[in-house]
Amino acid sequence: MDRVKTTIPGFEEMIKGGLPSSETYALIGPPGIGKTIFGLQFLYGGIKLGENGVCVTLDEATESLLETGKSFNWDFERFIGEEKLIFLDSSPYKGFHEDEYFIHSEDSVLGMPVFNTNNLIKNIVEAVKKVKARRLFLDCVTMIELQNREPFSLRTDLLGLKRALKSLNVTTILSFEAKNGQVLDYMGFEAYISDGVIILGRKDLGDRKVRYIEVLKMRHTSHIEEKRQFRITNEGIIIYPEKGPFL
Ligand SMILES: Nc1ncnc2c1ncn2[C@@H]1O[C@H](COP(=O)(O)OP(=O)(O)OP(=O)(O)O)[C@@H](O)[C@H]1O
Ligand SMILES: [Mg+2]
Repeated sequence: MDRVKTTIPGFEEMIKGGLPSSETYALIGPPGIGKTIFGLQFLYGGIKLGENGVCVTLDEATESLLETGKSFNWDFERFIGEEKLIFLDSSPYKGFHEDEYFIHSEDSVLGMPVFNTNNLIKNIVEAVKKVKARRLFLDCVTMIELQNREPFSLRTDLLGLKRALKSLNVTTILSFEAKNGQVLDYMGFEAYISDGVIILGRKDLGDRKVRYIEVLKMRHTSHIEEKRQFRITNEGIIIYPEKGPFL
């Protein structure tokens, strides 16, 4: 089985060498835990290995993501210039301020354009083909969920996206916000339709908190069953090789 290196120090060891390739993974966690950084690190490390990427942003503006990258010395702008990476800014604000309603339908909720998931998929596939991407990070699905008033159509839309990306041999990470900040409250359909589920969380130690990562599910491979502590350093996320004293 082909595996994709996340390039996040300590993560490969948790899943026996890397993510089974061409599958879709859910990355779930509360605010500020490191979901976006995890996804950007996965894309950046991939390009350095010769695997191009697409970052679909539905929430934070591209400029903000580039700024996050800079704080870790990840020069995304160079990779964009070299046509190895595309940031597909698909946040609803874009359609609100500009003429480009390219992923939105004519429908609106409270004056805001509604996601048209078919258009979104079409644009993602186009971007993937353009840079021959092998990796994709979509941040975050919760934005689509909030507008999708019918759970069945959201589930079928995501299955459509997943199948399209699999047929293009793209390994995908989809981020999801943990509901009410509680990871365990958030075991909805996304955990079932994804090929793997990675949880990021915090443990409260009274005077401080520590971050942890956990693999809840990983199809086609074994993985460790324990939580591992991680830190966000000036080089990005680093996962401790052992459980650590605080978990
Ligand atoms: N350059 C940096 N060095 C160290 N830590 C950083 C740096 N930049 C951000 N952080 C930490 O990472 C956190 C933000 O991480 P990130 O944006 O990935 O979270 P998130 O899970 O995507 O949150 P949200 O759900 O709000 O989008 C910050 O709150 C801060 O603690
Ligand atoms: Mg984020």
